[in-house]
Amino acid sequence: MTTPLAEILARRIRTEGPVTLAEYMRSCLLHPEHGYYTRREALGARGDFITAPEISQVFGELLGLALAQSWIDRGRPAPFLLVEAGPGRGTLMADLLRATRIVPGFHGAMRLVLVEASPAMRRRQRKALAGHAVEWAGTIDEALSRHADLPLLLVANEFFDALPIRQFIRTPTAWRERMVGLDEAGKLAFGLSGEMPAAFLAERLADTREGDIVEISLPALAIARTLAGRIATKGGVALIIDYGGWRSLGDTFQAVENHAPVDPLARPGMADLTAHVDFAALAAAAREGGACHSAMTAQGAFLEALGIRARAAALARRLKGPALENHLAAIRRLTSPEEMGTLFKVMAIHDRLGPPPGLPPAA
Ligand SMILES: C[S@@+](CC[C@H](N)C(=O)[O-])C[C@H]1O[C@@H](n2cnc3c(N)ncnc32)[C@H](O)[C@@H]1O
Repeated sequence: MTTPLAEILARRIRTEGPVTLAEYMRSCLLHPEHGYYTRREALGARGDFITAPEISQVFGELLGLALAQSWIDRGRPAPFLLVEAGPGRGTLMADLLRATRIVPGFHGAMRLVLVEASPAMRRRQRKALAGHAVEWAGTIDEALSRHADLPLLLVANEFFDALPIRQFIRTPTAWRERMVGLDEAGKLAFGLSGEMPAAFLAERLADTREGDIVEISLPALAIARTLAGRIATKGGVALIIDYGGWRSLGDTFQAVENHAPVDPLARPGMADLTAHVDFAALAAAAREGGACHSAMTAQGAFLEALGIRARAAALARRLKGPALENHLAAIRRLTSPEEMGTLFKVMAIHDRLGPPPGLPPAA
């Protein structure tokens, strides 16, 4: 079954030629009319996938308290800019704001900006955060330039994995890029570009071999450099949580619809498209931007270090029966190595005052 966006993309490819994976991903996720995130609300048990803040309130609470501690460590700057990138249903921010009510001065000093490209998601966030003074921006650049001189605290959970990637396959002498074109029947199909030098992959010649696939998200690197620039000059912390690893190697481009993996070309605009985040590349971009970064840390270890056991036990005292079982299962899902505990990683970009609690500085 084809989709309206498949027709639009096929028409474009017939006239202009194959598109990069990044162009395909951007259209599928954010096409103004048919994009996956633009069309509707995608998350939650009834959506296509579920994220950590939707699993347990403890996730947003602990992240909030970690950021508030970073604010205290920096002498409680007022005002400061609190940004969430890709806030989804607004659940993480709602939990973060509830937990930080106990931190004197934090709410009064914050200027809260949500970076969200999708009008449907913005409507959902408006509801979740009713009663708070919230601004929306379409990009991180827009959020930062609107509040040019402020120190920054930022949180981004499962935001970077939605940023468009390009894929390159190493040949004996150069690289070829994976493209989306049309097969003989006129259906969307993967293909390869001709050989190209790809200067931005020069450093990957040392640790890759012929046939290896390397993914790179140029928008993610630009964002990491921008965040680092603000943090290096005005102070602050950016907390990045996502699934991924240290140095991209191999094909991690994937589509999920209705909680199951699907062919990423089958129904453009209907499935969520993501790729693993390359934390080594983000760390390098942060250094280029003049900031420091923490060690990349598994989500489970990070949440344990922030005290998830104690908070979970406090909540458990009020629960019994199935509600208690659900609560304990949710905490396991966030922390256990078999579930999200090691697949998801956490890294902070920070100033000279160090990373937030729970994250060791880079070695
Ligand atoms: C997977 S959801 C993550 C939701 C949320 N952080 C959570 O943990 O539940 C990705 C979010 O980022 C937004 N988004 C995706 N690409 C974006 C972009 N390029 N610019 C701004 N927002 C984007 C989506 O609309 C959605 O709100």
